[in-house]
Amino acid sequence: MIVSLIAAVSADGKIAQSAEQSSLDWTSREDTRFFISKTKEIGTVVMGRKTFGTIGKPLKDRRTIVMSSRTGIEGVEWTSEPPADLVARLEREGVTRMALCGGAAIYDAFLSVGLVDELFLTVEPVLFGDGVPLFRNGARINLKLLETTKLGDSSVLLHYLLLK
Ligand SMILES: NC(=O)c1ccc[n+]([C@@H]2O[C@H](COP(=O)([O-])OP(=O)(O)OC[C@H]3O[C@@H](n4cnc5c(N)ncnc54)[C@H](OP(=O)(O)O)[C@@H]3O)[C@@H](O)[C@H]2O)c1
Repeated sequence: MIVSLIAAVSADGKIAQSAEQSSLDWTSREDTRFFISKTKEIGTVVMGRKTFGTIGKPLKDRRTIVMSSRTGIEGVEWTSEPPADLVARLEREGVTRMALCGGAAIYDAFLSVGLVDELFLTVEPVLFGDGVPLFRNGARINLKLLETTKLGDSSVLLHYLLLK
Protein backbone atom coordinates (compact mmCIF):
# COMPACT_ATOMS: atom_id res chain seq x y z
CA MET A 1 0.00 0.00 0.00
CA ILE A 2 1.27 3.44 -0.88
CA VAL A 3 -0.19 6.06 1.46
CA SER A 4 -0.06 9.57 -0.03
CA LEU A 5 -0.69 12.46 2.33
CA ILE A 6 -2.25 15.37 0.45
CA ALA A 7 -2.54 18.79 2.06
CA ALA A 8 -2.63 22.48 1.31
CA VAL A 9 -0.54 24.52 3.73
CA SER A 10 -0.11 28.21 4.44
CA ALA A 11 3.41 29.54 3.94
CA ASP A 12 3.78 29.19 7.74
CA GLY A 13 2.87 25.50 7.69
CA LYS A 14 -0.77 25.53 8.85
CA ILE A 15 -3.57 23.49 7.28
CA ALA A 16 -6.37 25.75 8.57
CA GLN A 17 -7.03 28.76 10.76
CA SER A 18 -9.64 26.83 12.78
CA ALA A 19 -11.05 23.28 12.88
CA GLU A 20 -14.37 24.40 11.35
CA GLN A 21 -12.83 26.08 8.34
CA SER A 22 -13.25 24.60 4.86
CA SER A 23 -10.01 24.45 2.87
CA LEU A 24 -11.90 25.91 -0.10
CA ASP A 25 -12.02 29.24 1.83
CA TRP A 26 -8.33 29.89 1.18
CA THR A 27 -6.83 27.42 -1.28
CA SER A 28 -6.30 28.14 -4.96
CA ARG A 29 -8.34 26.90 -7.89
CA GLU A 30 -5.18 25.17 -9.14
CA ASP A 31 -4.82 23.28 -5.85
CA THR A 32 -8.45 22.15 -6.04
CA ARG A 33 -7.79 20.91 -9.56
CA PHE A 34 -4.68 19.04 -8.39
CA PHE A 35 -6.58 17.56 -5.40
CA ILE A 36 -9.38 16.25 -7.61
CA SER A 37 -7.07 14.78 -10.21
CA LYS A 38 -4.62 13.17 -7.72
CA THR A 39 -7.37 11.67 -5.53
CA LYS A 40 -9.16 10.32 -8.62
CA GLU A 41 -5.87 8.77 -9.79
CA ILE A 42 -5.38 7.16 -6.35
CA GLY A 43 -9.02 6.12 -6.05
CA THR A 44 -9.41 5.62 -2.30
CA VAL A 45 -9.63 8.66 -0.01
CA VAL A 46 -9.43 8.59 3.79
CA MET A 47 -10.30 11.57 6.00
CA GLY A 48 -11.40 12.46 9.53
CA ARG A 49 -14.98 13.13 10.56
CA LYS A 50 -14.40 16.88 11.04
CA THR A 51 -12.84 17.31 7.61
CA PHE A 52 -15.69 15.35 6.09
CA GLY A 53 -18.04 17.72 7.91
CA THR A 54 -16.53 20.66 6.00
CA ILE A 55 -17.25 18.81 2.71
CA GLY A 56 -20.57 17.20 3.66
CA LYS A 57 -20.88 14.71 0.82
CA PRO A 58 -19.00 11.80 -0.77
CA LEU A 59 -16.26 12.71 -3.25
CA LYS A 60 -17.45 11.95 -6.77
CA ASP A 61 -15.81 8.93 -8.44
CA ARG A 62 -13.66 8.15 -5.41
CA ARG A 63 -14.11 5.62 -2.60
CA THR A 64 -14.50 7.84 0.47
CA ILE A 65 -13.65 6.44 3.91
CA VAL A 66 -14.32 8.58 6.99
CA MET A 67 -12.61 7.85 10.30
CA SER A 68 -14.88 8.35 13.29
CA SER A 69 -16.12 6.64 16.44
CA ARG A 70 -19.64 7.05 15.01
CA THR A 71 -21.40 6.56 11.70
CA GLY A 72 -23.06 9.16 9.53
CA ILE A 73 -24.58 9.68 6.11
CA GLU A 74 -24.72 6.94 3.54
CA GLY A 75 -22.55 7.00 0.43
CA VAL A 76 -19.31 7.03 2.41
CA GLU A 77 -17.71 4.30 4.51
CA TRP A 78 -17.32 4.95 8.23
CA THR A 79 -14.57 3.29 10.23
CA SER A 80 -13.19 3.40 13.75
CA GLU A 81 -10.31 1.06 12.92
CA PRO A 82 -6.83 2.20 14.01
CA PRO A 83 -4.70 3.30 11.00
CA ALA A 84 -2.66 0.08 10.80
CA ASP A 85 -5.80 -2.08 10.88
CA LEU A 86 -7.48 0.05 8.21
CA VAL A 87 -4.43 -0.16 5.93
CA ALA A 88 -4.16 -3.94 6.48
CA ARG A 89 -7.84 -4.46 5.68
CA LEU A 90 -7.68 -2.35 2.51
CA GLU A 91 -4.59 -4.29 1.42
CA ARG A 92 -6.51 -7.54 1.92
CA GLU A 93 -9.24 -6.07 -0.29
CA GLY A 94 -6.64 -5.44 -3.00
CA VAL A 95 -6.32 -1.67 -2.57
CA THR A 96 -2.79 -0.54 -3.47
CA ARG A 97 -3.01 3.25 -3.04
CA MET A 98 -4.68 5.48 -0.51
CA ALA A 99 -4.93 9.29 -0.34
CA LEU A 100 -4.81 10.66 3.19
CA CYS A 101 -6.73 13.93 3.10
CA GLY A 102 -6.70 15.21 6.68
CA GLY A 103 -7.37 16.81 8.95
CA ALA A 104 -4.70 17.27 11.55
CA ALA A 105 -5.85 14.35 13.74
CA ILE A 106 -5.75 11.96 10.80
CA TYR A 107 -2.41 13.21 9.45
CA ASP A 108 -1.02 12.81 12.98
CA ALA A 109 -2.49 9.34 13.50
CA PHE A 110 -0.82 8.00 10.33
CA LEU A 111 2.44 9.98 10.48
CA SER A 112 3.11 9.08 14.10
CA VAL A 113 3.00 5.33 13.36
CA GLY A 114 5.09 5.56 10.17
CA LEU A 115 2.26 4.75 7.78
CA VAL A 116 2.76 7.61 5.30
CA ASP A 117 4.94 7.02 2.23
CA GLU A 118 4.79 10.35 0.41
CA LEU A 119 3.52 13.90 0.84
CA PHE A 120 1.97 16.27 -1.68
CA LEU A 121 1.96 19.73 -0.13
CA THR A 122 0.57 22.75 -1.91
CA VAL A 123 2.05 25.89 -0.35
CA GLU A 124 -0.44 28.73 -0.65
CA PRO A 125 0.58 32.41 -0.42
CA VAL A 126 -0.93 33.20 2.98
CA LEU A 127 0.23 33.36 6.62
CA PHE A 128 -2.11 32.24 9.41
CA GLY A 129 -0.02 32.77 12.54
CA ASP A 130 -2.14 30.75 14.95
CA GLY A 131 -3.85 27.84 13.28
CA VAL A 132 -3.97 24.10 12.83
CA PRO A 133 -0.49 22.66 12.17
CA LEU A 134 0.09 19.93 9.59
CA PHE A 135 1.76 17.74 12.21
CA ARG A 136 1.78 18.20 15.97
CA ASN A 137 3.19 14.96 17.27
CA GLY A 138 6.61 16.50 17.82
CA ALA A 139 8.64 13.60 16.45
CA ARG A 140 11.10 14.44 13.70
CA ILE A 141 10.38 13.06 10.24
CA ASN A 142 12.92 13.47 7.47
CA LEU A 143 11.79 14.01 3.90
CA LYS A 144 13.35 13.79 0.47
CA LEU A 145 12.18 16.36 -2.05
CA LEU A 146 11.23 14.62 -5.30
CA GLU A 147 9.60 17.39 -7.32
CA THR A 148 8.43 20.99 -7.21
CA THR A 149 5.71 22.27 -9.52
CA LYS A 150 4.43 25.82 -9.80
CA LEU A 151 0.62 25.84 -9.69
CA GLY A 152 -0.76 28.94 -11.35
CA ASP A 153 0.91 32.27 -10.50
CA SER A 154 1.10 31.96 -6.73
CA SER A 155 1.20 28.39 -5.40
CA VAL A 156 3.85 25.68 -5.29
CA LEU A 157 3.28 21.93 -5.14
CA LEU A 158 5.98 20.03 -3.23
CA HIS A 159 6.26 16.25 -3.63
CA TYR A 160 8.21 14.58 -0.83
CA LEU A 161 9.14 11.01 0.00
CA LEU A 162 9.24 10.09 3.69
CA LEU A 163 12.60 8.69 4.73
CA LYS A 164 12.10 5.75 7.06
N1 LIG B 1 -5.34 22.24 4.27
C1 LIG B 1 -5.70 21.01 4.03
O1 LIG B 1 -5.25 20.39 3.06
C2 LIG B 1 -6.68 20.35 4.92
C3 LIG B 1 -7.07 19.03 4.67
C4 LIG B 1 -7.98 18.44 5.53
C5 LIG B 1 -8.46 19.13 6.62
N2 LIG B 1 -8.07 20.39 6.83
C6 LIG B 1 -8.56 21.13 7.98
O2 LIG B 1 -8.33 20.40 9.18
C7 LIG B 1 -9.33 20.79 10.10
C8 LIG B 1 -9.90 19.55 10.75
O3 LIG B 1 -8.86 18.81 11.40
P1 LIG B 1 -9.13 18.10 12.80
O4 LIG B 1 -7.85 17.52 13.29
O5 LIG B 1 -9.82 19.09 13.69
O6 LIG B 1 -10.21 16.98 12.45
P2 LIG B 1 -10.18 15.67 11.50
O7 LIG B 1 -8.83 15.05 11.55
O8 LIG B 1 -10.76 15.99 10.18
O9 LIG B 1 -11.25 14.75 12.24
C9 LIG B 1 -11.05 14.40 13.58
C10 LIG B 1 -12.04 13.30 13.91
O10 LIG B 1 -11.68 12.12 13.23
C11 LIG B 1 -11.93 11.00 14.05
N3 LIG B 1 -10.65 10.39 14.36
C12 LIG B 1 -9.50 10.96 14.65
N4 LIG B 1 -8.53 10.06 14.85
C13 LIG B 1 -9.13 8.86 14.67
C14 LIG B 1 -8.66 7.53 14.74
N5 LIG B 1 -7.38 7.25 15.03
N6 LIG B 1 -9.54 6.56 14.50
C15 LIG B 1 -10.82 6.83 14.20
N7 LIG B 1 -11.32 8.09 14.12
C16 LIG B 1 -10.48 9.08 14.36
C17 LIG B 1 -12.62 11.52 15.30
O11 LIG B 1 -14.01 11.54 14.97
P3 LIG B 1 -15.18 11.35 16.08
O12 LIG B 1 -15.07 12.52 16.97
O13 LIG B 1 -16.43 11.32 15.25
O14 LIG B 1 -14.89 10.04 16.76
C18 LIG B 1 -12.07 12.94 15.38
O15 LIG B 1 -12.91 13.80 16.11
C19 LIG B 1 -10.39 21.58 9.32
O16 LIG B 1 -10.20 22.96 9.55
C20 LIG B 1 -10.07 21.30 7.89
O17 LIG B 1 -10.39 22.36 7.02
C21 LIG B 1 -7.18 21.01 6.01
